[in-house]
Amino acid sequence: MDSLNLERPPRGGAQDLFYSKANTRGLPTIVRGEGIYIFDDRGNRFIDVISGAMAASLGQGNERVLKAMYEQGMKHTFSYVRVSRHLPNAALTERVSRLAGAGFERVHLSSGGSESVEMAIKFLRQYSYAKGNKDKTRIITLMPSYHGGTLATIGWTGDEDAASVWGPMAVFGEKIPAPLSYRPPFGTTSEDGSRGAAAALEAKIIELGAENVLAFMMEPIGGQSTGANVPHPIFFSEVRRVCDKYGVFLVFDEIVSACRSGKFLAAHHYPDCKPDVVITAKGLGATYTPIGAMMASAEMVDELADLTGFNLSHTYNANPITCAGAAAVLDEMVDRDLIGNAAMLGEKLKARLEGIKDNSPIVGDVRGQGLMLAVEYVRDKMSKEVFSGDIYASDRIRQIGVENGLMLYSRRQNGGRYGEWSVVCPPLIITEDQIDDLANRLERTIAAFVDEMVRAKVL
Ligand SMILES: Cc1ncc(COP(=O)(O)O)c(C=O)c1O
Repeated sequence: MDSLNLERPPRGGAQDLFYSKANTRGLPTIVRGEGIYIFDDRGNRFIDVISGAMAASLGQGNERVLKAMYEQGMKHTFSYVRVSRHLPNAALTERVSRLAGAGFERVHLSSGGSESVEMAIKFLRQYSYAKGNKDKTRIITLMPSYHGGTLATIGWTGDEDAASVWGPMAVFGEKIPAPLSYRPPFGTTSEDGSRGAAAALEAKIIELGAENVLAFMMEPIGGQSTGANVPHPIFFSEVRRVCDKYGVFLVFDEIVSACRSGKFLAAHHYPDCKPDVVITAKGLGATYTPIGAMMASAEMVDELADLTGFNLSHTYNANPITCAGAAAVLDEMVDRDLIGNAAMLGEKLKARLEGIKDNSPIVGDVRGQGLMLAVEYVRDKMSKEVFSGDIYASDRIRQIGVENGLMLYSRRQNGGRYGEWSVVCPPLIITEDQIDDLANRLERTIAAFVDEMVRAKVL
């Protein structure tokens, strides 16, 4: 079948036919994967720098996970969670809860990130409603941020351009400035920015009336929307204090950051800021199976079950094959200490990226934690000016990366108003040698882009 190479096949075709043509020219057709590598139909090999979609923590072809799913499917393929129970469900949630620690004894499973975000917010709404706090509906999130692509999660996502298309249909939540460390929204330092953003949260709650505010939701380490932004530690203690003061739930969207930051949850880096609810998804299924999870305390879940219960579900929630796959993913994580690997090799990779930054005129910032890192590109390191939109530096770097054996993913956030970057999130099974190879290739890729810009007299 060679129709994937046709511009417009007569019928069918790959998913990218739905995307903007400008962004899909020259996409490789992947035919094979092995460990951290994917291979196209021309025999080219790429390091999967972005782990699929910041999700393929175990890389490609993990036998233990695939075998667990196959064996579960042969034993018991499916039964519906509304009318029966099954052991793979309980086995997985026990593992997740044990890794998440005290305060996260209950785990609600769904089919992916956006669905889990919705489940978390709906759970909190149902809990508040059942307890008589019926006015609590308002959600506060960060600008920029990402919480999903369903109509509800588009409304909570911090994207300045989303309202023009989706405004009349999605209900847009309230936004406060994200505490961006490289481009602080207040003052000049990361700490100033974080203190200012926490103060903005308090001001927003007062403006809306605490009795109306259900939750504040944030990514403890930003994903693609901020390029692995890590707020200053003061932000965490401050948002916990503010949420406690006004009776607002604190939700961590750890759909990307769980398993990647060097601890199971990024929340574990901040013992004085335990969220009320945590959501995870990508690393849990590691791309082998679509899954998401929402974790809360036994106290809250059991209390709600005694009142009205949280009676929402989707067909594929907690299905046995998915549960068996995700349990095997977590067993691999634990047995191979891949979370420790993320901490150790994340430091090595970050040091290599810092070295690239020191020698490159266009790498303005390197940030992130564990194996959740990003490189931000600027036209001028002093002023932090971004490249113009017609250059679209991060995407041009992605294209040059393909020629250098790298599968990168670029983001120019809100037309470059928040900057542009490549996220560097390789599979957690990466080795030290492979990190050096990745960094060398990225250095060559960025240098080739700089040469192009010098020739075009942009630099
Ligand atoms: C932080 C964050 N939240 C939510 C989502 C939505 O997850 P999904 O694409 O599985 O619906 C994503 C996806 O990239 C994400 O990065």
